[in-house]
Amino acid sequence: MSSLTLAIETSCDETSAAVVQGTRVVTNVVASQASMHAKWGGVVPEAAARAHVEAILPAIEDALGDWTVDGIAVTNRPGLVGALSVGVSAAKALALTWQVPILGVHHLEGHILSVLADGCAVPFPHLCLIVSGGHTELVWVESPCRYRLLGQTIDDAAGEAFDKGARVLGLGYPGGLAIQNAALGGDPDHYRLPRGLARDPANFSFSGLKTAVARLVEKEGVHLSVSDAAASLQEAIVDALATKAMHAVEANEAQALTLVGGVAANVSLRDRLSSECARCGAAFHTPRFELCTDNAAMIGIAGGIRLARGESDGPDLDCLPNALLPGLID
Ligand code: KG4
Ligand code: ZN
Repeated sequence: MSSLTLAIETSCDETSAAVVQGTRVVTNVVASQASMHAKWGGVVPEAAARAHVEAILPAIEDALGDWTVDGIAVTNRPGLVGALSVGVSAAKALALTWQVPILGVHHLEGHILSVLADGCAVPFPHLCLIVSGGHTELVWVESPCRYRLLGQTIDDAAGEAFDKGARVLGLGYPGGLAIQNAALGGDPDHYRLPRGLARDPANFSFSGLKTAVARLVEKEGVHLSVSDAAASLQEAIVDALATKAMHAVEANEAQALTLVGGVAANVSLRDRLSSECARCGAAFHTPRFELCTDNAAMIGIAGGIRLARGESDGPDLDCLPNALLPGLID
């Protein structure tokens, strides 16, 4: 029977703790700070760290219940250092008390391996599109822990494009779900918004979208249809992501595409990639909704794989604001 891992995730604005056994998610507790940050229209690092301090022990207690774990996996990079250090300090204290190994996990490796949750049979190698509030990357996943970076955003992440667009349209924070809801019933072809780096097959650019939406709001004034604008913005982001992901599927003859990260919760993006993959004969996998946005279960799955290989960190485990994916190959 595989070992039980306690996982902790505090890299941004969700305080999360989970217990996983191999890829089976036993418990997954997520305390979101989104409503607090909504007041300021985005994540305030100091406030995030303080809220993690308040929420971390109840989240761990809830997730742990009566389970006894064999190891601890904690997100230690990349992310807000003040926020990360709350999770890492708690993990170190528990590892010392229980005398179990601790392992620092790269947040994106957690997202990439989140598709394996609950024994989902995803073939390797496969192509992975990571789309979150901080990242937009196309990664070739040779095997768990061996990755090749094929492309990435040169400016804003896809989630940032949703969040900034929502702010300009007065739809609040976080913007992804707000845009998705406002787009219901809207016409995605009503306003033409730019697809950045259209000639580059693998890299993305989303910074022009916010300016384009701001100009649209100014030009249309009271005549602006918010639902058409939200639908057109969503379409511009989905179209840019899907065009390049499908190009990469074909260029690399991938047998499967996975979609992970907070923006993977977007129904329009899931539907578009699912039908395009079906058309070209590639399998398509994306986690259930609650494992798309930040959660500790994905950190437990990634950390559990590495702990099972005998990897662990010492008491000097550090928190890093930026870090390359581990196991990158050329
Ligand atoms: O992975 P995540 O929880 O945090 C980071 O690692 O950044 O992603 C958060 C991002 C936010 O930008 C949020 O607006 C976006 O995911 N998001 C969505 C949806 N739900 C969350 N974007 C589009 N459609 C959604 N339904
Ligand atoms: Zn994330």
